[in-house]
Amino acid sequence: MEYRNFINGKWVGARSGEKFENRNPADWDELVGVFPKSGAAEVDEAVEAAEQAFRKWRLVPAPKRAEIIYRAGELLRKHKEEIARDMTREMGKVIQETRGDTQEGIDTAYYAAGEGRRMFGETTPAELPDKFAMSVRQPIGVCGIISPWNFPMAIPTWKIFPALVCGNTVVFKPASDTPLTAVKLVEVLAEAGLPAGVINLVHGTGSGVGTPIVQHPKVRLVSFTGSSYAGKQIAEFGGRTLKRVSLELGGKNAQIVMDDGDIDLAVEGALWGAFGTTGQRCTATSRIILHEKIRERFLAAFVERVKKLRLGNGLDPNVDVGPLVNKGQKEQIHSYVEIGLKEGAKLLAGGKPCEHGECKKGWFYEPTVFGEVGQNMRIAQEEIFGPVVSVITARDLDDAISILNNSSYGLSSSIYTNDVRRALVAIRDIEAGITYINGPTIGAEVHLPFGGVKDTGNGHRESGTAVLDVFTEWKSVYIDYSGKLQKAQIDNVRIE
Ligand code: UN1
Repeated sequence: MEYRNFINGKWVGARSGEKFENRNPADWDELVGVFPKSGAAEVDEAVEAAEQAFRKWRLVPAPKRAEIIYRAGELLRKHKEEIARDMTREMGKVIQETRGDTQEGIDTAYYAAGEGRRMFGETTPAELPDKFAMSVRQPIGVCGIISPWNFPMAIPTWKIFPALVCGNTVVFKPASDTPLTAVKLVEVLAEAGLPAGVINLVHGTGSGVGTPIVQHPKVRLVSFTGSSYAGKQIAEFGGRTLKRVSLELGGKNAQIVMDDGDIDLAVEGALWGAFGTTGQRCTATSRIILHEKIRERFLAAFVERVKKLRLGNGLDPNVDVGPLVNKGQKEQIHSYVEIGLKEGAKLLAGGKPCEHGECKKGWFYEPTVFGEVGQNMRIAQEEIFGPVVSVITARDLDDAISILNNSSYGLSSSIYTNDVRRALVAIRDIEAGITYINGPTIGAEVHLPFGGVKDTGNGHRESGTAVLDVFTEWKSVYIDYSGKLQKAQIDNVRIE
């Protein structure tokens, strides 16, 4: 039950001896584990180890680095059920989803491993004779990886696996709500054969460990997933020091339902999109934009289904929705419900914590639906990150897209329509990094780019081959075999 940091290939405690507890959000009597509360001293050691390890790791051929990641994928597959159960115990989402989260890590391992034998550069003609030109990807150095609690396996693997295949070394700070899944991931990487110092794990808080990682001069790159507020601070620091920063931040994702759409399918999609992971996904559906003609029909079916969702411990296969991750989240969700009521939105379902029966010892909140929401209300603009969805009415496609785009965020989006013209207009005009046609706003696959526009990030993407642009630098190489000085742009070749 007592876990440690992983620095330079060894499991070690915090120097101060301080510890923090990790408790089950569905049953706070259950202690999941005790973890070292670390600080700048442990970050220094980890960065030093990662810097030393980088000298050799960058020279290991990429296909060989990738084989270790492939083995890590095999080990994750072997331990999938155990990892999923522990993840449900530590952060609450239902077992079906923690299996999915682990599967996403496995998929990422296999995909990133494949890149070890690709990682293509370009060869291109040179403009001068007897000269060869090409571009190659090169690793960057020590990467600071700071990850959230809502996808404690998938999101760290999106970052760590490609970072390592590209030849970087890593200092990893997981969210302090999900340190156990991080330990499992690092155990697997160590067992798969990563040399000492290539992956280092430091547990602790954002200010205690995250900030020293970001500010460490030897950390060349920070990849962060979390709030826009923290992301902006990291970006500011990166701007001042010219450190590379890759950010994946908030969302206020919307699902549009048009009058020609399949309403039953759209109801299923909205239920999954809004209340999967208890609404705690950056891709969660937090606005539903309904064409006025189908509004009543959709809402009648949707609200009835929402009221039937079963709350409880996510290890029970009959439970639909698990708890929120912690007390702070529960308070935040409730404060937004109060804001919504004050703003004049109409509560159609939920609206209060669940504190009886199966919910008695956890951070549960009833799945909540607000109707008659104005597109500029705070509940329609700010990321709530919980089981609360706001329903807005639209007159037509243009109106629906303009409501969807009226947001400072732009991560995921969806439209239910069977009209191919409307679907293609939506794909063209929606301002978001991800658009689903006839599917909910959640469910991205690992071989496509993941990320968003506007306040959702700073232009980078995770997953797919796009992530290679985060974790490598391009080097352009010119090889002159003419035996003489040839001046580009000056020695023009004459054709006789
Ligand atoms: C997140 O929303 O925080 O697309 C990540 C999805 C998952 C990943 C979500 N594959 O819903």
